[in-house]
Formats: sequence, structure tokens, C-alpha cells
Amino acid sequence: MPRTEFISTGYYVPERVVTNLELEDYMDTSDDWIRKRSGIEERRWCKEGQGGSDMAKVATERALEKAGMEADEIDCIVVATISPDYFFPGTGVFLQRKLGLSEIPCFDLRNQCSGFLYALQVADAFIRLGQYRRILLVGTEIHSTGLQVNDVGRDTAVLFGDGAGVAILGPTDDEERGVLAVRTHADGNFAEKLWAPAPACIKNPFISHQDIDDMLVRPFMTGKEVFRHAVTRMPEAIHEVLDEAGLTLDQIDMVIPHQANLRISEMVQRRLGLSDDKIYNNIMRYGNTTAASIPIALSEAVDEGKIERGDLVAFTAFGSGFTWGGALVRW
Ligand code: ACO
Repeated sequence: MPRTEFISTGYYVPERVVTNLELEDYMDTSDDWIRKRSGIEERRWCKEGQGGSDMAKVATERALEKAGMEADEIDCIVVATISPDYFFPGTGVFLQRKLGLSEIPCFDLRNQCSGFLYALQVADAFIRLGQYRRILLVGTEIHSTGLQVNDVGRDTAVLFGDGAGVAILGPTDDEERGVLAVRTHADGNFAEKLWAPAPACIKNPFISHQDIDDMLVRPFMTGKEVFRHAVTRMPEAIHEVLDEAGLTLDQIDMVIPHQANLRISEMVQRRLGLSDDKIYNNIMRYGNTTAASIPIALSEAVDEGKIERGDLVAFTAFGSGFTWGGALVRW
């Protein structure tokens, strides 16, 4: 069975930079509060009419160009997002159309901050089984349109940002390289610890004026509990994939954690005993982009030469669900 290799990566973030100082104009918050609690200095917000599929299209074009590939070489699209362009159909079909493609399958996965790792697990299985040869793996999120940018929603409004990251995956016969392990987990007992209660098809109608008046259409988070679980599960997930691959922590060259909160990443780093050059963080500039955060960070790290061929790269994520996971790739 072949292994799955990362052929290319790309990312796109909207042009509009929203600083913490700008947020002070909209709600009772401060640059100091946001930096101290999350490490975030600024984030990107999309413009009116721009969807996750539009951002992913640009990220894909960049990845294709780097690889010297044409879009029609892609034979499957797997999109991870919790902020689809529309309720249905999924973002994948809009992205497919915008890339000028047709007929190839488009999967949409909804696993929140762990979405990219869930999607990687699916894509890796497809490639190893020989079902597809060039999978476009996407994490794309527009949060700015779903936040309550006022005092009521300030606890989460300051954390999230917009952006898209992609990877093009394919089979390799090189036994030394590629995806070595991917593991995902979930615990639905914590579903309401980080969630958006509306719109909800469990209610009739699934969206009401009352929902909007009650400001239910936004993320709700029990922050301290999320923090506590994240800093336990993320290192645990890295140990799990290392064990599966028969490798050890000291062999890792770079960890790309989901960019949840810089304080979470710092604690994960401490718990794993990693030096500063072995963990990549960019949440300072983009905020938390949920399923897009790992592919954006990965793509940036590759572009900056911080990941080179032969490096052992680990991913770890934790998020709403609760869901979490880890992956290990020999670059
Ligand atoms: N600006 C100013 N004050 C605020 C803001 C804000 N944006 N938001 C909340 N506050 C206030 C609260 O109202 C509260 O005031 P009070 O003491 O008068 O009641 C005070 O700040 C402290 O609120 P807490 O919720 O206790 O803040 P905490 O110190 O726990 O920090 C935070 C909040 C940063 C979210 C923290 O819980 C945390 O780091 N959680 C980790 C989870 C996380 O960051 N998740 C990211 C997304 S999820 C994911 O990707 C996994």
C-alpha cells in the first residue's frame, strides 16, 4: 500500500486586518486583555459576499502553482469547515465549480477545530486504498459573519478570524516519507461546552426572530473547561501518533498545533518539552481560524523554510465536540 504525501500547500487570508484596537471601538474590551488571554494581536475579516469557497479557491491556486499542477489533476475534494457558504449544499461543490471542475466528488466534514485532521484521516485512507490520486484537502472558515461583535459576544468575538489553507495530497512509494499516522477522537458529553445553539434543525422553525434577539447565533464557550481539556488532549494525541509510528518526541522537527489560543499552545509546548524552534504559532496575526488554522500555519511554515524535506512534522488539534486528534508526517 502506498503512503500519502503532501505534494503542495497554500493559504489565503482576507486583506482586511482587524486589530485589537479596532475591536475596542465595537465592545468593552482592550488590546491588553486580548493579548494576555489569547496572544492575539490582529485577525482578518472577509469582505461582504466573500465565501469560504472563494478563499479556498485562491489558496488552491497558490498550491497548484507551487506544485506546477493544473486544477484538472485534482480528482477529489475534501473540505473541513464549520462555516459553510450556505446551509446546503456544502462548500465543496462551490469550490469545485469555482476551480472550473466538475464531476469529481466533494466531501464536506464538520469537525470544528479538529476538522483538518479528520479530513486528513479520510483523505489518507482514500489515497492508500488507491481510490484517488490527487486529493485537495481544504480547511476554510469565515467566522466574522457569525460573531456577536459587541459586549454580549465579546468573550468569543475577539478570538476568531477568517482564512483558508489547503494541501494537495497524493500517493508516494517512498517508504520513508508521507503520512505515518493519523488518530482522531471525540467525546460528545462536552458538546455544549463550545457550540452555536442556532440555527438548529432540532427546533421548528430552525431559526426564529427570538433566536436572533437572544443572540443564540454565535459561539458559546466555557473557556476554562476548553482550556483544561485542550492542554491535556493535544499532547496526548501527539504521544499516541508517535507510539503508533514507533518514534519518540525528540525525533520531531516541528509541531503545528491548531491555533486555538497562544496560551494553549504554550502549555502544550511546555508539556511536550519542545524548544521554541519546534513549534509554529501564527495566531498572533490571524486569530483562531478553526479548521483552517493548521493548513494555514503549515503552509506558512513551509513557505518560510521552517519545514524541509525529511523533517518529522506533527499536527495536533482540539475543539468543539469535544473533538481532538494528532497526525505525524515525514515531509
Ligand atoms: N474583553 C474584556 N473582558 C472580557 C472579554 C473581552 N473580550 N471577554 C470576557 N471578559 C471578561 C469577563 O466578562 C469576565 O469579567 P468578570 O470577571 O467581571 O465576570 C473576565 O473577563 C474574565 O472572564 P473569563 O471568562 O473568566 O476569562 P478567562 O480568564 O477564563 O479567559 C479565555 C477567557 C481567554 C477564553 C480563557 O478561558 C481561555 O483561554 N480559554 C481557552 C479556550 C480558547 O481560547 N478557545 C479558543 C477557541 S476554542 C478552540 O479552538 C479549541
